[in-house]
Amino acid sequence: MNSARRKYWAQYKWSNVFAMIRNMKRHPRRNTEPFRGKLVVITGATAGIGYYTARKYASMGSDIIMINRNPEKSERVRREIAEDFGALVECVIADLALMADIQRVGQYLLSLERPIDVLIHNAGAYFESRKETPEGLEVGFAVHYLCPLIITRMLMPKYRRDRTGRIVLVNSEAYRFAAWGLDLEDLQWKKRRYSGIKAYGAAKLAQVLSMHILSRELAAYDVTINAMHPGMVRTESGKDNGRLYQWFKRHVVDRYSGSPEDSAEALYYLGTSPEVADTTDRYFHMTVEEKLTPPANDMEAAEALWKRTGELLNQKGVEL
Ligand SMILES: NC(=O)c1ccc[n+]([C@@H]2O[C@H](COP(=O)([O-])OP(=O)(O)OC[C@H]3O[C@@H](n4cnc5c(N)ncnc54)[C@H](OP(=O)(O)O)[C@@H]3O)[C@@H](O)[C@H]2O)c1
Repeated sequence: MNSARRKYWAQYKWSNVFAMIRNMKRHPRRNTEPFRGKLVVITGATAGIGYYTARKYASMGSDIIMINRNPEKSERVRREIAEDFGALVECVIADLALMADIQRVGQYLLSLERPIDVLIHNAGAYFESRKETPEGLEVGFAVHYLCPLIITRMLMPKYRRDRTGRIVLVNSEAYRFAAWGLDLEDLQWKKRRYSGIKAYGAAKLAQVLSMHILSRELAAYDVTINAMHPGMVRTESGKDNGRLYQWFKRHVVDRYSGSPEDSAEALYYLGTSPEVADTTDRYFHMTVEEKLTPPANDMEAAEALWKRTGELLNQKGVEL
């Protein structure tokens, strides 16, 4: 048994796994109060969970900024939501795996005069084979972990000034697949055999660990940050993977999956409900708070990841 296994093994509790299984059957809590005139920023709103979440907030009176990659899809969705709900909808086009685009988005959001009432880091994808950005970063690691981290860090001066806001990280129970923590010497999956589910889980675990650190500074500005699992839902996720994956997804995964509209309800609740107004640095399965696995609760690992990430970003000319 290696040292990480030895460290975490004794801390795992079956009761937490059973609790997660029970939570899979629960319906999300709802907030029926409107959120009129508030500003909500959502990444990856052209499809799936992000799309339905943008619609949900717009239907409740919010103004929306979508951060999307595909200009055509983005414009179609923008027009549709604006027409359906008479909402103010803006889109910013960015590939959230690329450092320059992430920083441009951060700068833009930072320049906004009005407060960002809710920021939902939702954009994401599942890759069955390893993909790399031109900057040499594993794409999933960049989109799920680095992007929310960099944007949130860039917004600190704004949050310090505005003293309001909620941040929600769309995470995944798949973070549990990084059962023995992260390999800080190979965060980009260059030295080990790549596994889609393990890399996806590792990026989501990194996101949870970064939440612990970010929450400390944000708390001083009355801003909350929480992570959530949006349920297993039928979306476009994995659309760029191979034919076998598509078959499996259509005939097996989607059969047992729920509707992204439920995820949107959960994201509306977490972003607006007074019941969670002061809750921060927590993990929700939809809207039910859940205990994290031992590696996701490990502050020593969170600090070590933060340090390693700082070095990595430094090499790319990005400040953490
Ligand atoms: N579906 C599930 O069962 C499930 C379960 C757990 C967690 N999640 C998480 O939920 C989130 C949303 O996923 P989904 O299932 O709704 O998938 P989806 O239908 O594929 O939607 C993903 C969204 O993210 C955008 N996106 C992906 N990569 C991007 C990039 N590099 N730059 C900018 N935008 C990017 C996509 O844009 P394009 O339209 O341009 O591709 C799309 O708008 C993800 O974080 C995922 O990990 C999903």
